[in-house]
Amino acid sequence: MTQDEMKKAVAEAALEYVQNGWIIGVGTGSTANHFIDALAGIKSRIDGAVASSEASAERLRGHGIEVLDLNSAGPLPVYVDGADESTRHLHLTKGGGGALTREKIVAAASEKFICVIDETKQVDYLGAFPLPVEVIPMARSHVARALVALGGNPVLREGFRTDNGNVILDVHGLRIMNPVELESEIDHIAGVVSNGLFARRPADVLLIGTPSGVNTVTA
Ligand code: A5P
Repeated sequence: MTQDEMKKAVAEAALEYVQNGWIIGVGTGSTANHFIDALAGIKSRIDGAVASSEASAERLRGHGIEVLDLNSAGPLPVYVDGADESTRHLHLTKGGGGALTREKIVAAASEKFICVIDETKQVDYLGAFPLPVEVIPMARSHVARALVALGGNPVLREGFRTDNGNVILDVHGLRIMNPVELESEIDHIAGVVSNGLFARRPADVLLIGTPSGVNTVTA
């Protein structure tokens, strides 16, 4: 089974958490794209979706699924999204696709966060995947120095702007032993919009795609 086949299977398994008449929070990335495609098959049963990125909004609309504004649609019953890394405590690194801030907002505004990953994303400690940090452009150097002081090696994501018009610093070289603390510490650097640690609000349910089926881990 390929990694993409595991992503597809786990995304389809998340449909089990969708109930009739709900507005669904939808994440970003290749696993979330499989979820959007699966959602299209039951679109007559849902009341629409809130997207965590322009790319996901476009894919939802392409399937004829109404995309709603979080301000009028929230709070949401469920948010489904992928991740770049997950621990067994359901602490996550996200933002490989650069949509971390909107993903964090929609996750925060949702009662249940269902995270869908393939088995390659499971780790003992976060940090091998460079931690994405969204930064106001004028603060780039200031934030980079502060991240170096925290022990990281920030690298500007070249040629990339977020949907919010900001830049991303990908922080290499971190071995994250206390993700809750580090998430707060990075968020308090002036100029940081948000960072890709989802530890203060971890996933509630982790669905893991493996060659032998989908495993479920709950918080
Ligand atoms: C998008 O910004 C990310 O948070 C994605 O959820 C994450 O990168 C997982 O992406 P894939 O599903 O493409 O692996």
